Amino acid sequence: QAEKSRFIEEIKALLTERKAVLIAHYYTDPEIQALAETTGGFVGDSLEMARFGRDHEAQTLIVAGVRFMGETSKILSPHKQVLMPTLKAECSLDLGCPIEQFSAFCDANPDHIVVVYANTSAAVKARADWVVTSSIALEIVEHLDSQGHKIIWGPDRHLGAYIEKKTGAQMLRWQGHCIVHDEFKASALRELKTQNPDAAVLVHPESPASVIELADAVGSTSQLIKAARDLPQKKLIVATDRGIFYKMQQACPDKEMVEAPTGGDGATCRSCAHCPWMAMNGLAAIKDALSDGAEQHEILVDEALRIKALIPLDRMLDFAA
Ligand code: 13P
Ligand code: SF4
Repeated sequence: QAEKSRFIEEIKALLTERKAVLIAHYYTDPEIQALAETTGGFVGDSLEMARFGRDHEAQTLIVAGVRFMGETSKILSPHKQVLMPTLKAECSLDLGCPIEQFSAFCDANPDHIVVVYANTSAAVKARADWVVTSSIALEIVEHLDSQGHKIIWGPDRHLGAYIEKKTGAQMLRWQGHCIVHDEFKASALRELKTQNPDAAVLVHPESPASVIELADAVGSTSQLIKAARDLPQKKLIVATDRGIFYKMQQACPDKEMVEAPTGGDGATCRSCAHCPWMAMNGLAAIKDALSDGAEQHEILVDEALRIKALIPLDRMLDFAA
């Protein structure tokens, strides 16, 4: 604990000295989210993080999250220095959608408009017509479908299936998945629901369709926090990364929250839903990012690629505005 407090004080001093701001995702550990909050930084979903970094006056952004979040910040804020606690924080959706294969998939269907989830590399975004985050995916696909566009969707297969179900759009879907949300299992959740008949179920749409079917609310991280506050139930079963409990508890301190189980029958695991890459954003790594030579921590995006990736990202931001 003494060591943690020392790290926190050192990071605070470095943030002031470097005129830097800490931007954290809801899935980072509570102490990282608390540090962002108490230093004038920000905690939010992937769309809000990018917007905050773009609009903040700080010239150095420390993005505590995974690589695509740092890249998105850099694409939107090319003149700012974007640092990450570690550049090894990946995302299985990004890793499962390599640009060469994805580009070939798009080339094979040239009459389709390409919509990609924000959880992708800068190169995949540059190949897309639209970027969406889970907070705005439904509205954008609905809009494109109503205009009669044929749509390629990538990379999350569950979010894609959910969007199809909600909008009625038929999309050509890339078959990627999130290693965290893919682990939620309907059978174990159904059992937990039976044991807690008074509880509401909240689910992130990267979860399998059978899990989404059991939900009272489905949405992005920010939307789930809002639903937790607004739903009448006092008990909530939550199927997303457990990092979200920090802000969810702040939003509704009077409610009881239960983690949805991962794993199948007999192998049920509680407290396992935590992204291993988000977990890499520790205090020591943040301090290193602020004190080391920047090269091990700095996000750089090739300028030609950045200009291309900015187009579909700006389309989303304009649509959301
Ligand atoms: P949000 O866009 O809801 O923040 O989700 C990002 C993510 O990585 C979910 O696993
Ligand atoms: Fe990617 Fe899943 Fe981790 Fe989110 S939780 S960053 S989608 S691997």
